[in-house]
Amino acid sequence: MKKLLIISLLILCVSAGILDRFKQFVNKHRKNYARLSAAEKSIRQRIFLKNLNFIDKVNKFLKNRFKIGLNEFSDRDPKQFIKEMCKTRLPARPRSLPSSTYLFGSNTLDSVDWRRYAQPIAHQGGCGACWAFSAASVVEFFNVMKGNWNYSISEQNIVDCDYDDFGCDGGWPKTALDFLKNSYGNKLAKEIDYPFIGMKASCRRVQHYIPLNIANTFEVILNGNETTLKSIVANQGPVATAMLVSDSGLFQLYESGIFDDPTCPETTTDSNDCFDVNHGVVIVGYGKDSATNEQFWIVRNSWGTDWGESGYFRMIMGKNACNIACYAIGVE
Ligand SMILES: *[C@@H]1O[C@H](CO)[C@@H](O)[C@H](O)[C@H]1NC(C)=O
Ligand SMILES: *[C@@H]1O[C@H](CO)[C@@H](O)[C@H](O)[C@H]1NC(C)=O
Repeated sequence: MKKLLIISLLILCVSAGILDRFKQFVNKHRKNYARLSAAEKSIRQRIFLKNLNFIDKVNKFLKNRFKIGLNEFSDRDPKQFIKEMCKTRLPARPRSLPSSTYLFGSNTLDSVDWRRYAQPIAHQGGCGACWAFSAASVVEFFNVMKGNWNYSISEQNIVDCDYDDFGCDGGWPKTALDFLKNSYGNKLAKEIDYPFIGMKASCRRVQHYIPLNIANTFEVILNGNETTLKSIVANQGPVATAMLVSDSGLFQLYESGIFDDPTCPETTTDSNDCFDVNHGVVIVGYGKDSATNEQFWIVRNSWGTDWGESGYFRMIMGKNACNIACYAIGVE
């Protein structure tokens, strides 16, 4: 009897502790749960508890190779989450393009980090417009590095006005860059003049636009050739790419370290594998961990600064992990 009492008290304590963590989570991320039904709330809570358990287990298993942790996405089911957040759409056109034209220069640096030219990390909210965020980011890096200007430009302007893509339902960074250069007059509103609202709205005009100075857009089909990708990043600067976010939940909850998802595809020789991508990000550099000698890509995401390493992540290099080295998309 006494034993039973102790056990049930223990269970109570544990669940009270976990419920506190759920409350803390809701407060910390200012989750607007008031608008949710009781049923929906309890679903979110259940998912949170499941993720919490997953985090503990995975971190023990990984032994600090990389870490996952609680973040604002911890009440989201991994399968639902990638459906909402990961929406690149590969355009239907020939998959092989000449790539030799884009091996700029012969810079072979051991490590590169272009983040000193970055604008603040953006947050795509619940809008599947990673393609617009990665395209905008590439144009920002290009202009800041050339000394043309130093502004955050408007993804909302792209989401609303680029009819060649699909707003919050997905798109492709190369299509967006071509649209901006050719159809939209090589200009765009500043973020501050046309701020992000997290959904597609009707295309509007603003008073001031800034010139994007794009002479050419390019899309190199790398098919996993990381040597070529290194050369492009070292010589040309940051490029947009598409990767696969698997529904393992690891990327959703990524906190720090060199990401390596065992459920992701790895090196193969079949170029069709590069169709298997769903999320647009920007490669901004690469490096090597001095302790482990592991090489990694430095990649910019658009899920806010609470996610990952202040909004960035490091992806393991050497096996085209999660199809990270399938494409290099940029401007010159
Ligand atoms: C761009 O502007 C921001 C502040 O608005 C500044 O912190 C940053 O250093 C500038 N970047 C460059 C490369 O000048
Ligand atoms: C990667 O591309 C480079 C340059 O195009 C080429 O020399 C090299 O053989 C390729 N590597 C692989 C593994 O295909």
